[in-house]
Amino acid sequence: MSLKNKDFITIDDFSNQEIEAVFSLADEMSESLYSQSKLCQGKIMASLFFEPSTRTRLSFEAAMYRLGGQVITAMDVHATSLAKGESIADMARVIGSYADIIVLRHPWEGAAKVAADYAGIPVINAGDGGHEHPTQTLCDLYTIKKERKTIEGLKIALCGDLKYGRTIHSLTYALARMGATIIFCPGPGLQMPEHAIKKLTTEYGGELRKIAADEVPSLVSAVGGEGNSKNADLDAIYITPSYPHQPALLAGVDMRVDLKSGVDALYVTRLQKERQQEDTTNKNAYPVIDKAMLKGKEFKRTLVMHPLPRVDELAYEVDADPRSMYFKQAARGVPVRMALIALLLGAKTVDVPSIDVFPARRLKHPIYRHELGVKCRNKQCVSQKESKYILPEFEIINCDPLTLRCMYCEHESHPPYIASAKWHQGTLDKKLYHSAESFLIDKIRLENLIIFDSRNEAESAGFKPSHYSAPHDEDIQGGGER
Ligand code: CP
Repeated sequence: MSLKNKDFITIDDFSNQEIEAVFSLADEMSESLYSQSKLCQGKIMASLFFEPSTRTRLSFEAAMYRLGGQVITAMDVHATSLAKGESIADMARVIGSYADIIVLRHPWEGAAKVAADYAGIPVINAGDGGHEHPTQTLCDLYTIKKERKTIEGLKIALCGDLKYGRTIHSLTYALARMGATIIFCPGPGLQMPEHAIKKLTTEYGGELRKIAADEVPSLVSAVGGEGNSKNADLDAIYITPSYPHQPALLAGVDMRVDLKSGVDALYVTRLQKERQQEDTTNKNAYPVIDKAMLKGKEFKRTLVMHPLPRVDELAYEVDADPRSMYFKQAARGVPVRMALIALLLGAKTVDVPSIDVFPARRLKHPIYRHELGVKCRNKQCVSQKESKYILPEFEIINCDPLTLRCMYCEHESHPPYIASAKWHQGTLDKKLYHSAESFLIDKIRLENLIIFDSRNEAESAGFKPSHYSAPHDEDIQGGGER
């Protein structure tokens, strides 16, 4: 199977077996880093970094040079025509005619997907706002596999800014798919986004449980402190052995995490200050990993991981500790990214069975796309920023209650109103909108469905309320986020 011409926008773009294939090739690259210089000769990589980067940009560029390719680069939005108002779509289309592959970092969530939709060449997401950073996840998983041989069954604690940390989001999905137990240790107010937890529990067979403070006291004290008292317990996602999740089949299976045998990896991230709407975080309560904390017996064999850069959350005194992995993670970025580039450019092929027991996305949802009606409400979503040409696009992940997931940033919403494009044709008095909680949600065919976020939105589009327009609650003014 070839990965030639694939995009790599979210970690869900690769199945577990494709990820394993990247790792096998990364092993090969590591062993012969200096003798790969013919593999991508004549190919050009466009390296577009519109947010600061040291590791991702330079390891991608080093990887392309090691493969014998060339690099063209843009690092500052103000030095490109984006500053004159050019769209990401136009930029991608043009660069797609200059280069063979694009690596893009951008502050807007979903920006890499837009570039991929228009470039006509493979696009790699090097971080899109607070959404995902899938190539960092490859480096993280590769490191865990190198050190522990497997990921299935490991217990991995994620500490710090789980809300805006894009490396955390990609890593969490991959760990869940690979059968790890994930323990969430957020800084104050920096919990995993609700939509991400929901995806873990509904699509990867995970189950959210509480871990009592006395099961893992060192972790709890690391995230405890003033302003974070509700973290006396921690959340854990337990991955169940079957899919779809069927608790009845699991009767008798002890789902408790055995923390006495230790935490296998502690993955910490810095506070993503640049993504916070306002600086409300109590810095004294932000988790800090230092020698004292690592004295806990549950950390005796723990890999200490960090995507870097670090600020104050990881003490320099840990660097000399053999458990520290973060410089290895960064160094492994070169062979991992060499493997990825070579595969997407078709310079290498991999042997992946066409039927994957762990496909990247286990559920396929119907897609809703319409010029009228609901739009993504996440202000950092590219579909809001470039609304002139991006048609809002959602997966319908549930009908009761109606739940949409934005195809660009994955934020979820629960719009309260629906209508049919068919029933009103030619008969204006039948141009009606209804509550999304009414039975009509099951009657309107997907191709005719129009979804509204508010009465105002429906009425501005010329629809009138039907007998079925009253949701159980009063209209949620300004939108249906719950
Ligand atoms: N880990 C990571 O993305 O680092 P940079 O921001 O330096 O690329």
